Amino acid sequence: MTLKNLSISQKVFLVFLIVVGLATLSFIHLLNKTYENALVNQGRSIAEEVVIFRKWAASFGGVWTLDKYTPEVGYLMEIAGENGKMKAYKTGEELGELPAFHFYLHNPALATRELSKLSSLEYGWSFRAVSDRYMAPEDKPDEWEAKAIKYLKSKEKKGVDEYWGWDKEDKFRFAKAIRVKKSCLKCHGTADQLDPMYYKAMVAKYGEEAVRRATGYKEGELRGIISVTIQPPNVIQTAFRLIDVWNIGALVLAFLIFWYFAKREIIKPIEKLTKAAHDISLGKLDIDLGVRGMKEEDVKDEITKLAIAIDRLRASIQIAMERLRKKK
Ligand code: HEC
Repeated sequence: MTLKNLSISQKVFLVFLIVVGLATLSFIHLLNKTYENALVNQGRSIAEEVVIFRKWAASFGGVWTLDKYTPEVGYLMEIAGENGKMKAYKTGEELGELPAFHFYLHNPALATRELSKLSSLEYGWSFRAVSDRYMAPEDKPDEWEAKAIKYLKSKEKKGVDEYWGWDKEDKFRFAKAIRVKKSCLKCHGTADQLDPMYYKAMVAKYGEEAVRRATGYKEGELRGIISVTIQPPNVIQTAFRLIDVWNIGALVLAFLIFWYFAKREIIKPIEKLTKAAHDISLGKLDIDLGVRGMKEEDVKDEITKLAIAIDRLRASIQIAMERLRKKK
């Protein structure tokens, strides 16, 4: 089938479909971009909140919590008052004696991990801190996280601190670099910088090999990443949810305007001219195309130009016929 076998109305309809199709594709693309942008911003704010929390925790060397903490949950170390008694003070003034509390230390990474356990994909997002040189087995990076760490290490000199993308399960992932600061060296620095008390506690908890892996860092080095996972709603579903009466109405209106214009300005005039040419060919020369006295140079519209030309053709034939008739 060639295009000649289609009427102009059919072609107009086809063109309309193609235009709407392309416009829809471009709209979905735009939606996707806007959406990804929103996800990056969400990932960044979650990561930044974690950074703030870690900074707060690190400023105290970790978070100390009170009694009734079970070893299974895994604090780094424990302190308690002597002889089962502790004293309470306020601005130096002794307030009284209390039975001894046990304080448990949650180093910044542990506190982060405990907090991260409260985050969940059920809420739409979760986060955790991981490292290629992990001390805790739970902090071992998954495939996407390993890729993110590799990327950030390769871009270290350029000061790139973020990486994002989609993983194999179509989840949106965001990574923010965690760099070693001075306050981290007592637990993650070189042998001479490590605090012997923390070192002993870490070895007791994770073993010598794990501690060796997660120490020996210098200030500024990439210690690991804050890894944010976001469960995104399906873009196509979102697009369908966005479709409402107004979208459909606008589309129908656009089609009607398009159709009305094609009918009135192209199809109808061409039908009229076809009929006129047909009549002229049969010798019917007294037809009126409604363009008498107009000149082609004076109009812009191509179909009116064609009508003027056909009308001139009609007039020429009429004059020729009259001359013929006189000669007879
Ligand atoms: C009081 C000791 C201590 C301090 C101070 C400390 N960390 Fe850690 N860090 C640990 C321990 C112990 C782990 C092992 C994981 C756990 O407990 O969850 C760890 C784990 C980590 C991890 C996760 C990867 C892994 O090795 O398991 C990162 C990332 C991390 N620390 C970064 C830092 C940064 C950055 C600082 C400084 C702002 C810092 N830490 C300060 C003790 C410490």
